[in-house]
Amino acid sequence: MRKAFYQDNRMVPLGIMLTTLIIFIYHFELDRPALAFSPVSTPPQMISAQFAPEKQDQAHLPASSLKEEAPPSSYSPGPVAQDAPVPSLPFTTTSTSSLSINDITLMFKTGASVLWRRVPIHLSTSLSPQRIPSSNVLLYSDAPETIGPWHFLDVLSNTSSSVRQSPDFIPYTQQTDYDDRQNYAEIGNMPGDAAGLVGGWKLDKYKFLPIVAHAGRAHPDSKWYIFMEDDSYLFLPNLLTHLSKFDHKDPWYLGSVAWIHGDFFAHGGSGFALSRGAWEKSFGADPDIVRRYEGFTAEHGCGDHILGHVLKEYGVEFGEDPTADNRFKYGFNPEAHWSTWFETENWCKPVFSWHHTHGRDVARLFGLESGWDFSKGQLRFRDVYDAMVKPYLRDRVEWWDNGAAKYEIRSNNVQYAQPPEGVKSVDTWKAGWKSVDSCQAACVAWSDCVQWSFYEDRCKMDSMVLLGSGIPEGDSRRQTSLPWTSGWLKDRIGTWKCDV
Ligand SMILES: *[C@@H]1O[C@H](CO)[C@@H](O)[C@H](O)[C@H]1NC(C)=O
Repeated sequence: MRKAFYQDNRMVPLGIMLTTLIIFIYHFELDRPALAFSPVSTPPQMISAQFAPEKQDQAHLPASSLKEEAPPSSYSPGPVAQDAPVPSLPFTTTSTSSLSINDITLMFKTGASVLWRRVPIHLSTSLSPQRIPSSNVLLYSDAPETIGPWHFLDVLSNTSSSVRQSPDFIPYTQQTDYDDRQNYAEIGNMPGDAAGLVGGWKLDKYKFLPIVAHAGRAHPDSKWYIFMEDDSYLFLPNLLTHLSKFDHKDPWYLGSVAWIHGDFFAHGGSGFALSRGAWEKSFGADPDIVRRYEGFTAEHGCGDHILGHVLKEYGVEFGEDPTADNRFKYGFNPEAHWSTWFETENWCKPVFSWHHTHGRDVARLFGLESGWDFSKGQLRFRDVYDAMVKPYLRDRVEWWDNGAAKYEIRSNNVQYAQPPEGVKSVDTWKAGWKSVDSCQAACVAWSDCVQWSFYEDRCKMDSMVLLGSGIPEGDSRRQTSLPWTSGWLKDRIGTWKCDV
């Protein structure tokens, strides 16, 4: 179909006009503050939910990676229009000097039931001594452990005995029995595994307050405390450049916004940064915080929320702009690169973190970071796209759902379908439900469309890019449905530009 499009004498001049128009509009947009209402980003949890068949997303997320995820409703709706003038901030956002790796403490959280599966990759990547001195790293688990020079602290060791009676602590008390009997506790939590320790994720929420309390006490000279999970990857050099814009003596608490119980907080899996000023205002001012909030911790589900709630009670608000209704900023990602949307809004923004990373993702992200010349600029979404998304995009591929969602045309909704702006042929666009070819043609007919997917009589199109994941050959899921077909319009994505 695409060949036909380019060979069509009537379509080619149209295409040239269109391209000119896109470039014109794009320049127009660059010259002035963005007035456009940006597309409402899909809440992170819904991204994987979009993949079909349902079983697919489970296969990608180890059961325990779901541990402290807030329910979808807890997420704020994502970016909103940035047309308002920047409100005055309660404290300065300019600092005088740049940050070095020695100014920070990296708080790394794991757990006994996942440590042996998730941590080893980080020892030669995230935590490699060439990247960060070991004296700037604190490793937190729920059982003491040693791997070579690395020592993992049992951060729950001071939990009061009344809290330890909770059923949540069963894995904690059983851990030593597994060890003593020469069993491998970490084989639990794997799909299909019956053996192994029951999930440690209920324990997980109890770790957040003791981790932050301990890190601030153990490293009082750090300017920033940066938190990461064992299934995350942080582009540390990018993050340091970003944090150097903020004065560490002021109370900053920065990350990927989440929201439950009326509290804004930093989503844990996305990583977050807490300034020394924030620590002193909260944990430093009250050495009893962990004890004081043990009851609150027991009654609430998510450790990252518990921390955000406590910080707020001590006057440390979440976000770069704590006065904003919506504190979303691009940079900290609650998903992996293949389940994150790339779009014109984030294309030129620096990236700080990825979540739900497997060992292979961590290795590749580390490779990308190691090969990057940060003196020439930060790693942006588009750079990650170029290195880790673009090589896998195809004109058309079966057994793949790329999550396209913005417009869906089906045989039973087509009569109500409202074509978006930029649709050159409404007939072609509306006929998308008829076949794979029609769906691809419908996407081509809408100038903003960069990806489509088709199943049965459903044609979905989007102006943002998601790699998603396919169902590999031989996978049993291929026996239970028709093939989803997906395609991307790489050339259009190639027209997205950055100033530098
Ligand atoms: C537990 O308490 C002791 C004594 O106050 C302290 O030295 C230690 O750092 C605490 N451990 C953690 C993980 O907070």
